[in-house]
Amino acid sequence: MKAHIKALGGASLLVILAATAGQAQTLPPDPPKFEAQQSPSFVGIGDILEYRALPEYSEPAWVAKNYVETGKLPPVAERLPKEPMVYKTANMPDGVGVYGDTMRHVIGGRPQGWNFLAGNNQGWGGIDIGMYECLTRTGPLFTIKAEELQPMPNLAKSWEWSEDGHQLTMHLVEGAKWSDGVPFTSADVMFTWDDNIVDPNVTPAVGTTEATFGEGTKLEALDDYTIRWTFKEPFATQFLYQMAYGNFCPNPAHILKDHHPKYNPEATYETYKNFPPPDYMNYPVLGAWVVTGYRPDDIVILRRNPYYWKVDEAGNQLPYLDEVQYKLSTWADRDVQTVAGTADFSNLEQPENYVESLKRAAAPDAPVRLAFGARTIAYTMYPNLSANGWGDPDERGQAVRELNRNADFRRGVTRAIDRQQLGDALVKGPFTTPYPGGVLAETSFYDKTSTAFFPYDPEAAKADFEKAGLKDTDGNGFLNFPEGVAGGGDVEITMLINGDYQTDKTIGESIVAMMERVGIRVIPNIVDGTTRDSLALSGKFDWQPVRINYPELSTIVQNTVALAPTGPQVAYGHRAGADGSLDLLPFEQEMVDVVNKFMASRDPAEQVDLIKQYQKLYTDNVYAVGLTQYPGALMINKRFANIPPGAPIFLFNWAEDNIIRERVYVPADAQRPEYQLQAETLPGEPG
Ligand code: GLA
Repeated sequence: MKAHIKALGGASLLVILAATAGQAQTLPPDPPKFEAQQSPSFVGIGDILEYRALPEYSEPAWVAKNYVETGKLPPVAERLPKEPMVYKTANMPDGVGVYGDTMRHVIGGRPQGWNFLAGNNQGWGGIDIGMYECLTRTGPLFTIKAEELQPMPNLAKSWEWSEDGHQLTMHLVEGAKWSDGVPFTSADVMFTWDDNIVDPNVTPAVGTTEATFGEGTKLEALDDYTIRWTFKEPFATQFLYQMAYGNFCPNPAHILKDHHPKYNPEATYETYKNFPPPDYMNYPVLGAWVVTGYRPDDIVILRRNPYYWKVDEAGNQLPYLDEVQYKLSTWADRDVQTVAGTADFSNLEQPENYVESLKRAAAPDAPVRLAFGARTIAYTMYPNLSANGWGDPDERGQAVRELNRNADFRRGVTRAIDRQQLGDALVKGPFTTPYPGGVLAETSFYDKTSTAFFPYDPEAAKADFEKAGLKDTDGNGFLNFPEGVAGGGDVEITMLINGDYQTDKTIGESIVAMMERVGIRVIPNIVDGTTRDSLALSGKFDWQPVRINYPELSTIVQNTVALAPTGPQVAYGHRAGADGSLDLLPFEQEMVDVVNKFMASRDPAEQVDLIKQYQKLYTDNVYAVGLTQYPGALMINKRFANIPPGAPIFLFNWAEDNIIRERVYVPADAQRPEYQLQAETLPGEPG
C-alpha cells in the first residue's frame, strides 16, 4: 500500500483517499466534448406505427404487370395480412416514398448458411436483420420518449398480462405470410421455441438459450395467432426486449422441420445446422428482402419480398427498395467504399478510419452523409473467471483461470493498461475516452460517482502481481507462476482476438505491449470472427478483448440477464463447466443478486439505485477490464431519404435495424436503376 501512495506523487486528494481505503482508484475522467454528435427527436410508439386495414393497397407497377396480371402471384391485397403494420407518414422524415433502387452494403463476414436459429451466421452487417423479423423490435427505440419506453410490436402486434402478472398473452399478426406465400402461424413460433431455443443441441447464432427468457419460462400456443408465456417472476417486462432481434426471430417450420433430427431420423444436428447452405436461394423469410443471388467471396443479392406484411399510410406495400446487395469484402472496405460512393452504407466504427472518412465526407460534393452518435462503441476485456472446467483448460490454462479469479491480479491488469495511449493508438482527437468498464458513459443509467477508475500505474500493477504471488523467478523479465503451479513456468496468457477487425488487432497489440512492461506475457490468438464466436461461447480463452455491442451495457433494460452470470450460460466471461454449475466469486454473487432485484423491481427510482450498486460492484472488483469507449458514425449515401436524424450505429440494436430500412427510399430523380443486378424480378421457387 505504501508503494502505491508513493507512486501517486502529486495525485488528487480523492485518489489518495481511495488509496488509503485500500484501492488506488478514482472517478473516471469526463469524456472529451465532441460537437459533431446528433440527437434524435422523441416520439411515442403509436406515432410510428399501427395495425389496420386500408381501403386499397398498391405495389410496384412491374410486380402488378409481370406477376399479378400473369397469374404468378395473387393480388397484393390477398398477399397482405388482414391488418398489416402501417407506418405513419407524420413520423417519416421525408414522407411517403417511391419504389426502386438498391442499397449496396459491404461486409467483412461470410454467410455460413441461412439457418440463423441453428447457429449459422449470415455474415452480419444487417443481412440477417433484413431477412428475419422478430416478435418485438427494439432498434428504433432510440427515438422513443423515456416515459413510453417499451419494445415495439412487430410479429406480435399486441399483448396483455394476466392479473397476477405471470402470464403474457401475445397476439400474432393475422394472415402474414412467408415470402413463399405459406401462412405464418404460432406453429412457426413453437418450432422456434421447442426445437431450437429450448433444444440443448441447438444454439442460435447469437447464443440464445431458454434462460435468455428467464429460468423456468414456458411458452404455449393457444391458437394459430395466439401464444402464451408463463414467467416465474410476475410482470417480467424485460423479456419483451429479448423477443426482438436476434433472440426470437422465427424461421420457417415448413422448410426446417424436415431437416431437424427430431422429425427426420436421417438428419443430425450438424446437418440441421448446415441446412440451408449459402447457395440455397429463396429461403422463405418474413423480412423485407429474400436472398436470390450468391457468389462466394463476391456478393449476396436480396430482392423484395412480395409477401411483406408492412405498408405505408397510402397503402403502398413495403419495402420501397427493390434490392439490397451485400458485397463480400472486409469491414475496413465498407468504410472506404461508402466514403467513395461505390457502396451506400457503413457503420463507421473502426477509429483507424475516422480522420480520413471525416475529411472526405466534409467535401461539398461527397457522395456520403456522415453523422456521429453517442459514445456507444466500447471495448472491454473479459478474463475467463470460470475455474470449473468450462472450455477444458489444460494445467496452464487452469492456473490462469485461478489468477483471473484473484482480485489483486485483476486490479494489476487494469492498472497496467494506459487507456489514453490505447485510445490514441486507434485515433487521435476527441473521439475515444478511457472506459472503466460496466455501464457506458453517455447512456441513461450511467452514474459517474458509482464508477471506480484505476488510473494507469505500472508500478502499482507490479505490486498487485506480487501480492497475487507472482515473481520473476528465472530472471527472464516475465513473471512466473508460484512453485508447484503449472511447473512454475512463465505466466502465459492466451488472448482471443477477432481478426476480422483492424481495431481488435490494434487493441490486442497494445495490450500485449502494455502487459510486457509489467512482466506478463500475453499471446494473441487471432482468428476470423466466426471462429472467435465459437471459441468465446465454448470458453476457450484466457482473456478476450471484445467490442461490446451488448445492449445490456448501453440500455440496461435489454438483455438484462447478461449483466452478470445470472444463469449457467449467460455471461461472456463466466459460464458453467460440464456439471452445469457456476463457481461464482462472492462479488459476482452480489452482482447476480442486484441484477435479479433489478429485473423484479417495478420502481424506477429503485432500479436506478440498483444499477449504481451494480456499477460499483463491477468496477471496484474489475469484473472485466474496460478499455476504451468512442462514438460511431453512420455513413449513408446522400441519395437515400427517410433516414431518421440521430440514428445511433448501436444502442438497442445496430443501425441496420434502427433506420427502419423498409421505409427508406430513393427519390425518383436520384435513382440509379443501373445498380440493380436483378431488376424487375422477384424471388422464385425454393432452390
Ligand atoms: C457487424 C458490424 C456492425 C454491424 C453489425 C450488424 O458486427 O461490425 O457494424 O453492421 O455487423 O449485425
